[in-house]
Amino acid sequence: MTARFLDEDNDLAHLEVIPGRPGGVKAVDLPILHGTMGPAVLDIRKLYSETDCFTYDPGYTSTASCESKITFIDGEKGILLHRGYPIEELAENCSFLQVAYLLMEGEIPTEEEYQTFVKNITFHTMVHEQLRDFYRGFRRDAHPMAVMLGVVGALSAFYYDSLDIRDQRQRMIASHRLIAKMPTIAAMAHKYSIGQPFMYPQNDLGYAENLLYMMFATPTAPFKVNPVVARALNKILILHADHEQNASTSTVRLTGSSGANPFACIAAGIACLWGPAHGGANEAVLNMLTQIGHKDRIPEFIKRAKDKNDPFRLMGFGHRVYKHYDPRASVLRKVCQEVLEELDYHGEPLLELAKELEKIALEDPYFIEKKLYPNVDFYSGIILKAIGIPTCMFTVLFAVARTVGWIAQWMEMIGDPSQKIGRPRQLYTGHTLRHYRLSSPRGV
Ligand code: ACO
Repeated sequence: MTARFLDEDNDLAHLEVIPGRPGGVKAVDLPILHGTMGPAVLDIRKLYSETDCFTYDPGYTSTASCESKITFIDGEKGILLHRGYPIEELAENCSFLQVAYLLMEGEIPTEEEYQTFVKNITFHTMVHEQLRDFYRGFRRDAHPMAVMLGVVGALSAFYYDSLDIRDQRQRMIASHRLIAKMPTIAAMAHKYSIGQPFMYPQNDLGYAENLLYMMFATPTAPFKVNPVVARALNKILILHADHEQNASTSTVRLTGSSGANPFACIAAGIACLWGPAHGGANEAVLNMLTQIGHKDRIPEFIKRAKDKNDPFRLMGFGHRVYKHYDPRASVLRKVCQEVLEELDYHGEPLLELAKELEKIALEDPYFIEKKLYPNVDFYSGIILKAIGIPTCMFTVLFAVARTVGWIAQWMEMIGDPSQKIGRPRQLYTGHTLRHYRLSSPRGV
């Protein structure tokens, strides 16, 4: 088969395909779409029906799976915008719930809109009392991401009055429930693992503060959230809130494309996020730094990361989209410093090690040539550790934050008239037709 572009102007690409089998040359005019920013997009929707030909793109490196107005990334320049606003400005000036509203509704809320939104969220922060019993079914040493997966999936068994995705009001209630309950569910997963009583949410606290309260307070003594720590967590949540069509968000969209209920969709997102190549990387960074242990051993690990025969990778480095410093990592580097100073962690060995590792890697020709820079996970783990959050909870907090992005993207998908069930095709390389024979050694 050969394919060639014969003619190309700004809006149309003429493609001829010679399939290499009877039928001869097949031609199709493919529209070239232009977003408000970013590269032009070849609209191949007619390709198969007109030419009998698929595209092949494992990992979707060249494929836009949807149209979206929520988040824009320029990976070459290290730019991340939510609804047009730079992530640095949002992290500096907003509360997490303001950013949640922005992602879902498209605009920064007015004071009145914000108060209504906060009221709607805080109304739903408690979970059904029976969910407490549900936790008891898990082993105490279960990974909290496993618990999150089970409990969030189970929400659809508790909140059946917000499962009808065709009903706009039910969609909104389910969205509010998810955003409100995620911190409660996450904190309960933590408390369960350490054998402490669950703490009810406190609706007069901010989103990040309430999460810290539910994780660290006990019924036996008053607990005051450190405002510097709450501000840092607020920033961490904002920086993780959305990241356009990443693996977990695409999973949520794909799951939702079949009409699955929102609780099931978010549970699917959590499953995908758990992997070490995605949200699990923050936990992996800390484990890696602990394994490296001392500055003197950095060269040994850099050497391993460059060795093709060694599966070891520098965790917290590299990104599918960013070929520049991840803007979220720049914000977190500063936050990390602030938190460690506030908590008197001067000269925290892991931070010193992380900075040295970053310096050495950024000067190394391998990392320069492959454009491998620190990503959001590189510094978040150190901050979370300093705050006192156990390593196994890092990805859980990522899931709490990303729930907002998953929901915004899911709602956008439901409202998109061009939305179809997601159903990729394949390049089949298995057996051609063969017939079952009774005499065959593999016959039954
Ligand atoms: N350490 C060493 N080498 C690396 C690293 C790394 N962290 N990341 C990429 N490379 C190398 C690869 O070996 C590959 O080399 P090659 O071209 O010689 O084969 C090249 O850089 C390109 O890497 P790919 O894996 O093809 O890039 P891809 O876009 O598929 O993967 C990913 C991106 C998964 C993030 C990768 O960089 C990685 O595994 N990083 C470490 C895990 C991590 O930090 N994940 C968090 C991502 S951010 C997030 O999800 C919030």
